[in-house]
Amino acid sequence: MQNISLKLDKSFGFISKDSVFGYAEEIRKHNEALHQQTGKGSDFLGWVNLPTSISEDELADYELTAKKLKEKKIDIFVVIGIGGSYLGAKAVIDALSDSFIQLKGNDQPLIIFAGQNIGEDYLAELRDLLQNKEYALAVISKSGTTTEPAIAFRLLKQELETKYGKEEARTRIIAVTDAVRGALKKLAVTEGYKTYVIPDNVGGRYSVLTPVGLLAIAVAGFDIRALVQGAVDMEKVSGPDVPFEKNLPAQYAAVRNELYRSGKLIEILVNYNPKLHYFAEWWKQLYGESEGKEGKGIFPASVDFTSDLHSMGQYIQEGERKLFETVISVAKPDNELLVPADPENLDGLNFLSGKRIDEVNKMAELGTMLAHVDGGVPNLQIEMPQLNEYYLGQLIYFFEKACGLSGYVLQVNPFDQPGVEAYKKNMFALLEKPGYEEATKAIKARL
Ligand code: PA5
Repeated sequence: MQNISLKLDKSFGFISKDSVFGYAEEIRKHNEALHQQTGKGSDFLGWVNLPTSISEDELADYELTAKKLKEKKIDIFVVIGIGGSYLGAKAVIDALSDSFIQLKGNDQPLIIFAGQNIGEDYLAELRDLLQNKEYALAVISKSGTTTEPAIAFRLLKQELETKYGKEEARTRIIAVTDAVRGALKKLAVTEGYKTYVIPDNVGGRYSVLTPVGLLAIAVAGFDIRALVQGAVDMEKVSGPDVPFEKNLPAQYAAVRNELYRSGKLIEILVNYNPKLHYFAEWWKQLYGESEGKEGKGIFPASVDFTSDLHSMGQYIQEGERKLFETVISVAKPDNELLVPADPENLDGLNFLSGKRIDEVNKMAELGTMLAHVDGGVPNLQIEMPQLNEYYLGQLIYFFEKACGLSGYVLQVNPFDQPGVEAYKKNMFALLEKPGYEEATKAIKARL
């Protein structure tokens, strides 16, 4: 089976190949620390061997739950969660789905996400939609106490119970949460929901290959076994015993740290296939939350090309020279579509007649890469042979492993997120949550 590939040569005009290979021994040690659980954040390294430790029983259980839900003839599966409890599933499902699935439909339930924002209109409009649909819910929260999904779940649970009655509603709710802690766990036990456990040692943004991601992906009708197999294969070729020349996550971690040290403070993840838009959102959370701390870290940004060449292209070509790009390139699209001939040729496009649309896209990709390199933007390229479950599995584990290594090179703990609490404290103080009386007084005095 082929693997995804990583091309670094268009970064070597900006940093030297020797300097990148100079990280080999340091990164090997970091890799060992990840595997032996001796580095920072060692309580959260369950993801390192996760792909190879997923059992046949687990996969069969997700598939069986998906099957049972489908037997209820649901039109929609609402997945409630935020951050790591949402982005992985959304990334994979969007990458694999027909771009117009919401309008075309197929024989699988549509997956709709909730609890990833507190937009009143979003929730009201979703509630209205669900009134005339058959549906079921998954509520996903590792801590079981996150406000956004908790509000969405409270609302949609009541709607579901009103529609189906309490007994039937119970069979249409699945909880994915901690084994013992949290309000959601208590609720799930009291109500008797089917429950899946998020392993203690897997943090939210590393949890897509647990029930957090796999259940929704299975309900959407995708092959979770191929997804996991891709991750297994990448796990096997990225361990500490795999030499740097062959170890893609190690190389990616090295090159981005060397670019960072050379003043490239912003990494833009680029795609030329809009189905990867949410993959970039998942990646941004993974790298932003893992590395952005202690006043350090590359700022992760993303663009969808060629669309954003008509909005962000100017800045990337000629703005502050603190950027580098990592392009995810898909070698082979699923469809084949040619530019048609037109005898009148009023638009002057006959030079493209008979060419595949993808060939035009690929030339845009190549031309943009060379223009941006000429403009002072180093370029890395990750090529996926195809956009399917197997290569997405490889890509997920590639980025996770590289993120752990890269965070260790940066000398931060890539597995905590202490900064996420700051807004929550202020929000609770402003909402006058019991226990926050002093904070409420203090924050109101600042307004
Ligand atoms: O990566 C993380 O840990 C966070 O982004 C969490 O996934 C996010 O805050 C949601 O947390 P929870 O699953 O506890 O509701």
